[in-house]
Amino acid sequence: MTNQSCLILIKPDGLVKSLTGNIISTLSETKLKIIGAKVVSVKKELAEQHYAELKAKKPHIFESTLKYIMGEFHTPRVMALVYYGEDAIQKIREIAGKTNPEDADPITIRGKYGRINSKTGVFENCVHASDSEENAEREIKLWFKPEEIVENLYPTKKSKKTEEVLDWA
Ligand code: CDP
Ligand code: MG
Repeated sequence: MTNQSCLILIKPDGLVKSLTGNIISTLSETKLKIIGAKVVSVKKELAEQHYAELKAKKPHIFESTLKYIMGEFHTPRVMALVYYGEDAIQKIREIAGKTNPEDADPITIRGKYGRINSKTGVFENCVHASDSEENAEREIKLWFKPEEIVENLYPTKKSKKTEEVLDWA
């Protein structure tokens, strides 16, 4: 038994279909803890970093997958969540279902709510879930700052930033 963390993204199709509640309810069956959550407008740089592996492994779908996660087909919003607990990755991947929504078990999130877009060919599968501890760490560090997570997952360091930051007026 190992405690793991796992990044979940409710993708733009999940948000336009108003599935946030359904997806979080389904994920609560795992009894894992949510230790981070926010809504993000995904910029190209973040999308490219997130799918860096896909660029090498499946270059033919890279550009359309970037457009999908940036919300060009739906809405430019993604809900990012970090789940934590025993065997988190396997539990979440199981409940998320297979990548292709037509192959996914019908009672999984992707099986229930996903579709293949007949115009773009994109697997609109509503959620992303990290597939290994290594990728979970890489992805969580991309999407979240240390103070946005209520658990000390990874080592941190203090650094002085000099650039301007946006604050409440
Ligand atoms: O998301 P997952 O780890 O299951 O699959 P992936 O191979 O890492 O692919 C990332 C995402 O690209 C998928 O979730 C799909 O949205 C998209 N994809 C696609 O549209 N068509 C494919 N043939 C493969 C992936
Ligand atoms: Mg993947």
